[in-house]
Amino acid sequence: MRYLVVMLLSCLMLVKTDDAVVVPQLKETEQAETSRIKWFRDAKFGLFIHWGPASISGQEISWGMQDRIEGGAKHQKVPRERYMNLYKEFNPTEFDADGLLSLAKGAGMEYIVFVTKHHDGFSLWETKQNHFPAGADYPQKYSIADAPYDKDICKEVAAATKKHGLKLGWYYSTRDWTHPEYLKGDNQAYNDYYENQVEELLTDYGPVDIMWFDHCFGDWDQYTIPRLYEKMYAKNSNLLVNNRAVRGIKDVPKEYESLVFGDYDTPENRMGAYQHGRPWESCMILSPTPDHGGWSYRPDGVTRSLDETLKLLSSCVTGDGNMLLNLAPLPDGSLKPEEKAILEGIGPWMKKNGEAIYGTRGGPWINGDWGGSTYKEKENVVYLHLFENKEILLNRIPQTVLKAETIDGIAVPFEQGERTVSVSLPKEAVDDHVSIVKLTLDAPAAGPLFAPALAGNAANVVPGTLEFAVDKATLTAGLKVDGDAITGWANPKDGISWDLGLDSPGKYKVQLTTSCAKPGSIVVLNFSAKSAKGLHGPVPVTGDLKNFQTYNLGEVYFPNAETTKVRLRAGHPHAWKQVDVKGLKFIPIN
Ligand code: GLC
Repeated sequence: MRYLVVMLLSCLMLVKTDDAVVVPQLKETEQAETSRIKWFRDAKFGLFIHWGPASISGQEISWGMQDRIEGGAKHQKVPRERYMNLYKEFNPTEFDADGLLSLAKGAGMEYIVFVTKHHDGFSLWETKQNHFPAGADYPQKYSIADAPYDKDICKEVAAATKKHGLKLGWYYSTRDWTHPEYLKGDNQAYNDYYENQVEELLTDYGPVDIMWFDHCFGDWDQYTIPRLYEKMYAKNSNLLVNNRAVRGIKDVPKEYESLVFGDYDTPENRMGAYQHGRPWESCMILSPTPDHGGWSYRPDGVTRSLDETLKLLSSCVTGDGNMLLNLAPLPDGSLKPEEKAILEGIGPWMKKNGEAIYGTRGGPWINGDWGGSTYKEKENVVYLHLFENKEILLNRIPQTVLKAETIDGIAVPFEQGERTVSVSLPKEAVDDHVSIVKLTLDAPAAGPLFAPALAGNAANVVPGTLEFAVDKATLTAGLKVDGDAITGWANPKDGISWDLGLDSPGKYKVQLTTSCAKPGSIVVLNFSAKSAKGLHGPVPVTGDLKNFQTYNLGEVYFPNAETTKVRLRAGHPHAWKQVDVKGLKFIPIN
């Protein structure tokens, strides 16, 4: 009898599991995944908003609070007591969600990601969940309902987003530096709180298209992640979830590892490297501050120029990614005039050149300082995005170029030789920022070619370039040189190093050439010389270890003439996938 009950129970459980909500990121076929994320890949350009009571302080949102429990000393400027009470003064009477979203629409943005709760724990919607116990120093909900402003901000944003035909994303910080139960013991009280909050955000505000999380701390058994995902997908089975909902949690079991990667990568405040195999989105601060902040309103933020912003957008798109551009409204809800002007400036360019942006894929030429290219799948068309007004020389493509013209039909002289394609812009075709040349081919530009561009002088070596040859490298036991590449780097414990002797101080752009079949690997470059700061970045997925890609890892500055070891290491060992390395170059910057 007992056995029967057990059998019956396990049958019931089986039935339940089969009927349970499918978590796409765990079970989906590649095809289903591609179609679920298609709108996002086609959309290219979105609006990020960081805003809240913290904006009153003019210091970095959450990070500006003193005596935080996480995140180190950086940015801590506002006494905790003062920071926590800013909500009492938060009355953004100038906030106009409709105007904001109409501005976004006019700039050619297709979606929005709005910060609903940052690490400081304040909710910008009328949450029903208690943040503090009764009788604590702060209101129980610690939400917009406790501020003088008497409207649910998320409700306003959701309504305006829908009105303007944009997709809606919520940023939600799992990290909570003020919730008394956060990461206490098994974290269950906090899990209930935050999962319920996420559920509210997905229930009470019409259809939500993206959940944009922002990293976690703690161990896997302090979270109830499968429960969270089931709840989310029960609300919308097409929901997109970025790669920060589980990232940072220790000891994620193998079967849940795909949740760490989420639906797309999110390079932060830097342009992502060309990556065709997996969707990505660079989130970019529009008005960065000298101390590397500016997500929320900072009086010391310097707004990027229109030229820079358009080139960043074009670089993201030609790199096969998206750009999520961050605006930081003022405490009263109005926009910084400089930020508003950028959005207004982008609009006309997008209106004219949108066909080279929306619904395209990055390639067939890899982008770089010269600009880049986009193509339309199944159509015989490629768009060159040119940053400079000079003749451009590109590696050949297998298709024949039949025609070159601007979007509005001005003919552009071109030549297709046996090994190259060259294009020269006539004066009347030059745009002030990014000039688009539309190439009509005799067949679709299928797939990425991973062919480097020979744009401008890029093919010539910049004088003073330091090249680290693979056969001069010191390799740990697992690695070997195979032809012109270092191969076999599947174990994150392995690493590569070179000796470098500098005869003068110098600043360099670091260029790495690698291949990698799967997402997840983060490469770290560091130095034995203490004076130089290391770099790290994700290894672009090239689909196959035989396909190599060259990309910028960042910049390095050596203040002294000195001798140092240059070391390549694996970051995030648990997520490491085999990487082959073909080259490392330091290119001098004047
Ligand atoms: C970082 C910061 C956070 C910001 C986010 C945007 O995680 O902690 O302040 O919201 O980046 O990507």
